[in-house]
Amino acid sequence: MKTQVVIVGAGPAGLLLGHLLRAEGIDTVIVERASPDHILGRIRAGVLERTTTDLMDRLGLGARMHAEGLPHDGFHLADGKRLIRIDIAALTGRHVMVYGQTEITRDLMAAAPERGLPIIYEAADVALFDVDGDAPWLTYGKDGATHRIDADFICGCDGYHGPSRRAIPASVATAYEKIYPFGWLGILADVPPCNHELVYANHERGFALASMRSSTRSRYYIQVPLDEKLEVWPDDRLWNELAIRLGPEAAAHMTRGPALEKSIAPLRSFVFEPMRHGRLMLAGDSAHIVPPTGAKGLNLAASDVHYLSDALVRHYKGHDNDAIAGYSGKALARVWKAERFSWQLTRLMHRFPENDAFDRRMQVADLDYIASSVAAQTMIAENYVGLPL
Ligand code: APR
Ligand code: PHB
Repeated sequence: MKTQVVIVGAGPAGLLLGHLLRAEGIDTVIVERASPDHILGRIRAGVLERTTTDLMDRLGLGARMHAEGLPHDGFHLADGKRLIRIDIAALTGRHVMVYGQTEITRDLMAAAPERGLPIIYEAADVALFDVDGDAPWLTYGKDGATHRIDADFICGCDGYHGPSRRAIPASVATAYEKIYPFGWLGILADVPPCNHELVYANHERGFALASMRSSTRSRYYIQVPLDEKLEVWPDDRLWNELAIRLGPEAAAHMTRGPALEKSIAPLRSFVFEPMRHGRLMLAGDSAHIVPPTGAKGLNLAASDVHYLSDALVRHYKGHDNDAIAGYSGKALARVWKAERFSWQLTRLMHRFPENDAFDRRMQVADLDYIASSVAAQTMIAENYVGLPL
């Protein structure tokens, strides 16, 4: 098969990119290792910046998001005693949209056939070839045969574990990484949220987050050691711990219920430079990971895709030969700022094993300063709502 652009991975990055290219009449094929059910079974965060909702609207695929999503004008930082509200609407004139990433993915997958965007699911052993030449290609296995796709460009949207980043030689790239000495234990339950906005809590026992998927479904997290076993956190113990860490105000309105899902995820900061090698471009988690504290993962994937689709359209329509070369620099400038914010909020809100009493007082003083400073709140709000493209 021959196409103009082949995309590896049908996560949010690959699907958004595929739709944006198809909307411009660029021939695009997506190859994806998993099945649709497997992709839609993943539970992931869902706080969308305007950058992300704008892309859905531009594609004419935002109707369900606007009908079912919850616009949030603010969120809270808690310090064990009180809630500090960050009024993002008053401070920035914008809001964020709470709409599960799984739902975005569902909307994009459902619209693919009618938009002429082929997705080859259950494609095994994807391998990339000649990415630094004029005619890159890839192979995959399906139904007992090996298939080949030739393309002008390959876009690696295959997440942190995918093959695309590994097709870039180590000699031309640099990977920056920070592993945090804890993970997040998450619980999903069909109970109303304890607050109509999100609450990020720094307690001396560790971080906690109260989030939601809808007015009847809540998502909570607590910080746990990296080697923690799920078995030591039966639902009752987890709810008790959440009530302590979130503080009295949030706890007073917390409804408990059986876990629909419970899992532990590690936290990582990771950036791979450059995000382009020859005719292979990376977007989303294949090139960078943020700890979830700033809710930036999906939004960064969306901004990469904004820059990448723009570069490809300028290449094909504007005959602009420099467009592709400029992609990595543009995307990375925004990536590093989101990495900074995610790292800073993670440091502010978590208990680090190496922290001493002084470090703890610094966190408390930081939160106290934020509570009293419009300048500090504005810095947090403008990053949370998403920096300009
Ligand atoms: N071949 C084909 N597809 C692959 C391969 C492979 N070898 N390896 C991984 N994939 C697919 C995965 O199955 C997944 O569907 O690539 C896709 C990558 O999707 P995500 O991991 O969701 O990454 P991305 O689209 O960059 O999303 C960025 O959304 O899912 C979140 O945590 C993620 O918040 C981040 C944001
Ligand atoms: C979530 O709802 O899963 C969520 C929300 C905000 C975050 C991280 C996760 O910062």
